[in-house]
Amino acid sequence: MATDWLKQAVAQSEKLHPYVPGKPIAQMLRELGLSEADIAKQLASTVKLASNENPYGMPPKALTAIVDAANEAHRYPDGDCFELKQALAKKHGIKPEQLLIGNGSNEVLELIIRSFAGAGDEVIYSQRGFIVYALATTAAGAKGVAVPEHDGLTHDLDAMLDAVNKNTKVICIANPNNPTGTLLSTQALQAFLDQLPGHIVVILDEAYVEYVEDILEDSIQALQHDGLIVCRTFSKAYGLAGLRVGYAVANKDVLAVVNRFREPFNVNSIAQAAALAALDDEAWVMDKVAQCKAERARLERALSDINCLAAPSFGNFVLFQHENSAEIVKKLEQEGVIVRPLAPYGMPDVLRVSVGTVAENDAFLMALSKVLP
Ligand SMILES: Cc1ncc(COP(=O)(O)O)c(C=O)c1O
Repeated sequence: MATDWLKQAVAQSEKLHPYVPGKPIAQMLRELGLSEADIAKQLASTVKLASNENPYGMPPKALTAIVDAANEAHRYPDGDCFELKQALAKKHGIKPEQLLIGNGSNEVLELIIRSFAGAGDEVIYSQRGFIVYALATTAAGAKGVAVPEHDGLTHDLDAMLDAVNKNTKVICIANPNNPTGTLLSTQALQAFLDQLPGHIVVILDEAYVEYVEDILEDSIQALQHDGLIVCRTFSKAYGLAGLRVGYAVANKDVLAVVNRFREPFNVNSIAQAAALAALDDEAWVMDKVAQCKAERARLERALSDINCLAAPSFGNFVLFQHENSAEIVKKLEQEGVIVRPLAPYGMPDVLRVSVGTVAENDAFLMALSKVLP
């Protein structure tokens, strides 16, 4: 008889489901039943607006650094990311020991949750917060407590405080939030932190912070809480999603614990070199952030004009709402545009559409005008 491998695995595996990422272009074309030759022809003309990547590519200095670093890729990377930590410490006005670098901020989030929460512990997050918090919590064998948003979109900080009990170990908050695009003020966050015991770890996930830096105080300097861990990524504004670099900023004693769970060479050498160079190309990054925000405003106006804007967003994505969203996703794919259904977040009528280049956004709006019932 065949082995039931789920039964052999740790108990929490039955509750885990693999993360469903934005659909890669080639996969979508394969699903449409195209031949390999037709897929090759259509790759360039298909638009992926499903994973909140930087549509403009990566900073030119990062590309040059990658080529140089490739020559040294037969060596192990610097397991401590010395140079990258030095540069990030300078950028944020902190000490290198207040940093932990990960294989994407996703790895950092998982390491933090695994370090502080296990069987019998609770992790609080918002119901429509980034799904990885729930997955990492379950994988760690801890209990996830999903708190509904007060308007279906925005973190309900009071309700999250009410959910705290003696088993609470970690609280996860994304700001701006993915996928709902909402933003909490620095004042609201500090008032929340002031009511928590210092030993509770609060992950403030700022994957999209570059899109709000002009209106939000710098939380790394402004927010006070012993167990605060601010997470950031090079995957969005910095254009390095494929290389996987993210980091945490916190009290050095908190990170010393997380570091025990980190594998020795978790950030590869090419990624380290690219991230370092990207930090040195700030003008490029900020220019693309500005273009993204202008295009976000244009997309939101266009969606609002047809009564399909779910809510304004502070991230590099917009929220489209329509009762026939599930059908519209399929039809958009047939028109060569991939967007992200939010049904897994309990929003079956909402689609998250990453802000692309001007041409990509035009392609989306054109396809939408064709497929809308
Ligand atoms: C809120 C949030 N946090 C973290 C991540 C993970 O990013 P990465 O692992 O690429 O750094 C994402 C990715 O979409 C995100 O939306």
